[in-house]
Amino acid sequence: MTDRITIRRPDDWHVHLRDGAMLAAVLPATAAQFARAIVMPNLVPPVRSAADARSYRDRILAALPQGADFTPLMVCYLTDETDASDLAAGIADGSFVAAKLYPSGATTNSHAGVTDVRRIDGALAVLAKTGAPLLVHGEVTDHAIDVFDREAVFLDRVLAPLLARHHGLRVVMEHATTREAVAFVRAHAPRVAATITAHHLIINRNALFQGGLRPHHYCLPVAKREVHRLALREAAISGEAAFFLGTDSAPHPVSDKEMDCGCAGIFTALAAMELYTEVFAEEGRLDRLESFASLNGPAFYRLPPNEARVTLERRQWTLPKLHKVAGGSGVVPFRAGDEVGWALA
Ligand code: NCD
Ligand code: ZN
Repeated sequence: MTDRITIRRPDDWHVHLRDGAMLAAVLPATAAQFARAIVMPNLVPPVRSAADARSYRDRILAALPQGADFTPLMVCYLTDETDASDLAAGIADGSFVAAKLYPSGATTNSHAGVTDVRRIDGALAVLAKTGAPLLVHGEVTDHAIDVFDREAVFLDRVLAPLLARHHGLRVVMEHATTREAVAFVRAHAPRVAATITAHHLIINRNALFQGGLRPHHYCLPVAKREVHRLALREAAISGEAAFFLGTDSAPHPVSDKEMDCGCAGIFTALAAMELYTEVFAEEGRLDRLESFASLNGPAFYRLPPNEARVTLERRQWTLPKLHKVAGGSGVVPFRAGDEVGWALA
């Protein structure tokens, strides 16, 4: 049994760092684990222009702990009004690494998102030309569609036609949750890739109702049936270049989660690499952890892999019940109060 593994330092290709006191509270965990992160732009108001991205990046850098080695990679939040020339300039000068499509109303802080993908043809043409990826929250917002089917329907109704219309476009299907998404990504690789969260590898939809209603297991896209969790595990450990790590760690104050209409989002940043390592160890595929966590993402983003190395070792530790946030109610982490079998050395 392997008890230690050393890999290149990983990156998180999908994380929510928020702003202000929440940023200060959650950034140290992500910066300790990852060298780089794709920082989601769904602030209020969202990160819509290259100037917004530079100022958010400055706030993140200012909030970094002393001596941290961490580079935030910024993303443009696409809207019906996105200025294609600002997006092009932002990509050219490094203010943006990618752009995110939130169908309006699909998830937390997406109301300013895109109402019809045909309205962002100008922005998509810029992405196709530059090779900067389009990151998609892949769920339709049609209330007639069952919430557990919204990802699969998005692939047919929105993503397939989009890829046919924009030939050079490269797409990351963010936080894939279904076997349909896994099959779609395989059918369209290397143009299309997917991030996979730790929590979707660990829980299925039963976790939302385990002994009662469990708001800290609620995220979007919502966890699906067991067959889908197994398909995601198989994809993550496959070593295939199209699948890579994106935690979708999405902290919300406990007061916004434990209420009659609680927010979507699971906070995994405190133990992200430990949780992924646990999954790969359970599958007997620790040899593929480095591809998933540290190689496939940089290759898709056309960036060099990190030179530094990290070691994970088999060691039990317990996650806190609550992660404190200055002036707020704190955040309940995924697996709060539970043990994790792996630790960063
Ligand atoms: C995210 C958030 O809270 O910003 N929530 C979530 O459930 N994943 C938004 C998102 O990525 O969909
Ligand atoms: Zn997200």
